[in-house]
Amino acid sequence: MAGRKVGILDSGVGGLSVLREIRNRLPDLDLHYIGDSAWCPYGVRSSEEICGRVGKIVDYLLTQEVSLIVLACNSATIHAVEWLRNIYTVPFVGMEPGVKPASAATKSGVIGVLATEASIAGEKFHRLVDSTAHGVTVITQPCPKFVEMVERGILEGPAVDDAIHEYTDQIVEKGADVVVLGCTHYPFLRESIRRILPDSVTIIDTGEAVARRVASLLEEATGSGETVIETTGDLELWNQVVPVLLDRPAAALACRKLVEDSAQ
Ligand code: DGL
Repeated sequence: MAGRKVGILDSGVGGLSVLREIRNRLPDLDLHYIGDSAWCPYGVRSSEEICGRVGKIVDYLLTQEVSLIVLACNSATIHAVEWLRNIYTVPFVGMEPGVKPASAATKSGVIGVLATEASIAGEKFHRLVDSTAHGVTVITQPCPKFVEMVERGILEGPAVDDAIHEYTDQIVEKGADVVVLGCTHYPFLRESIRRILPDSVTIIDTGEAVARRVASLLEEATGSGETVIETTGDLELWNQVVPVLLDRPAAALACRKLVEDSAQ
């Protein structure tokens, strides 16, 4: 498939960790990102609520003539991707916590999966564990404070370190040698997490694999490399936080407010 423009969505800024990987791999592709910060976090919401929000955003992205949509959100993928594929013809690339690569990499036979409460509760997640984590002990841990902090652009400091200890100490004590970042917000805390976890623990996230998948579906990326970023949330906050997350000058990254009506 030749593609000019790809839509990317998440509950907030987290999916920008996936956008970053797609941009690195496909510099000419036009990207249209929607962060649903007005409804963030998705991680505490029901399947019905997640599907409702994601459906609205997909409808809006389709008015922007995207040829493929990336669900840069594990929670949205786990709860909505099968439903979306049944009702829309546009192709979707979803993402799920890297239980499979983690199970292949572990030597201790214990892995930790950091993901949202919604992801961990999802049936699709249970199927993933049953089909890929044979003989491996999977310790799951929701990390809601990580999402709150990343949404505010807080990537390091004492509050971040305390939260990392709170969420990972028991995983390390139980012998995990691989930790999966199973929510797209978490890779923005990767450096802080790396500093706190023992060197013997491998950290896995699946953003790069998603970018590879997008590249393999689009044999040709023929856009002009434009990046449009829209949020349903606080535009002023986004204009401060997004340049920090993407390590780009604010002037190069003006975000736009997506007014709720246009996403109906
Ligand atoms: N970034 C999202 C994920 O990958 C969800 C974070 C949230 O809204 O709770 O699951």
